[in-house]
Amino acid sequence: DGEEEQSQDYLFKIVMIGDSAVGKSNLLARFARDEFYPNSKSTIGVEFQTQKMVIDGKEIKAQIWDTAGQERFRAVTSAYYRGAVGALLVYDISRRQTFESVSRWLNELHTHSDMNVVTILVGNKTDLANDREVTTAEGKALAEAQGLFFMETSALDSYNVRAAFQTVVKEIY
Ligand code: GTP
Ligand code: MG
Repeated sequence: DGEEEQSQDYLFKIVMIGDSAVGKSNLLARFARDEFYPNSKSTIGVEFQTQKMVIDGKEIKAQIWDTAGQERFRAVTSAYYRGAVGALLVYDISRRQTFESVSRWLNELHTHSDMNVVTILVGNKTDLANDREVTTAEGKALAEAQGLFFMETSALDSYNVRAAFQTVVKEIY
């Protein structure tokens, strides 16, 4: 019926990308179910969650896809990115290597999806302040240079998790 048609007008596919163990699955679990797993295992294949959001009084469904950062556990790359209109590119502020991988992930994103995909660079695990290896200024600078939104988050203590997803959905909408 009409109502179903209308809700389909606002179904946005968003993909989570970034190195293994940066916290992609936990950011999604925190956002969609307000859960956190201290000992979560690597994602195998693809999982997704559909999350209803209200933006400017309109109901929007965000279909958020999550796959493994590790090549050997990943699903078919082109299918993963197909139709995506938003992306969260996540690194771990306590592991510099994951920040250095960002340009590789951006290349992959741009190879397999539209250049206009709304992307936010997310520095996760701000609760690990004592182990920080990437400054906020570095994250911001890279995001600016690449034309990305930027936010630091913690899936553990919920800091900015909702805001990060909302930034992407708002901009798509
Ligand atoms: P893959 O599926 O292998 O690509 O990893 P992932 O990016 O989905 O990482 P995942 O969410 O599985 O988290 C990896 C580990 O980091 C787990 O032990 C989580 O509990 C932990 N973790 C995730 N987010 C945070 C956070 O914000 N703070 C802290 N301290 N730990 C976190
Ligand atoms: Mg995962």
